[in-house]
Amino acid sequence: MEDSPEPQTVEQAETTRRKFLKWLLGSIAVVNGLIVFVPFLKALADSSLRAQKKEWSKVADMGLLPQGKPVNVRFQSESEDAYFHNKVLHSVWVIRHSPSEVTVFSPICTHLGCYYLWDPQTGHFECPCHASVFALDGRVLGGPAPRPLDTLPVKVDNGTVLVQWERFRVGIPQKITV
Ligand code: FES
Repeated sequence: MEDSPEPQTVEQAETTRRKFLKWLLGSIAVVNGLIVFVPFLKALADSSLRAQKKEWSKVADMGLLPQGKPVNVRFQSESEDAYFHNKVLHSVWVIRHSPSEVTVFSPICTHLGCYYLWDPQTGHFECPCHASVFALDGRVLGGPAPRPLDTLPVKVDNGTVLVQWERFRVGIPQKITV
């Protein structure tokens, strides 16, 4: 005949109940932590991945650009900032040199960040803020600008001009991404 298990004392039963409650509360805390932190960590990982993988934005059809004349083009780029998805409107200067070669300049003056313009009369880019002047190839011709115009990463894919938007520090001779 089998021995039946010893009946628990009231004290033992109380200890078992306390252990179970402790375990239950611990498990609930862990699950709550996961519910809060997993989406947060995922958003952080996603945004850092996107930051590393910069987007290419379509700015123009190569065939429609005039040769050797700067064209101001507007486009929208998208960015992720933790939980927020932002769409930002930019403008750039696009210059087609040949059927396959193109340069894209950031529209921001390298002196203190004003938006400069193209003057077709002089054939120069001119900044209205402190009178910096730049050549068609971006060289500084006059004024306080400490470096040439900033080029942006560009590629031509199937006749479409694609650009990666970037910002650079202003007021210094070096081209450093912000
Ligand atoms: S911001 Fe362009 S010259 Fe000063």
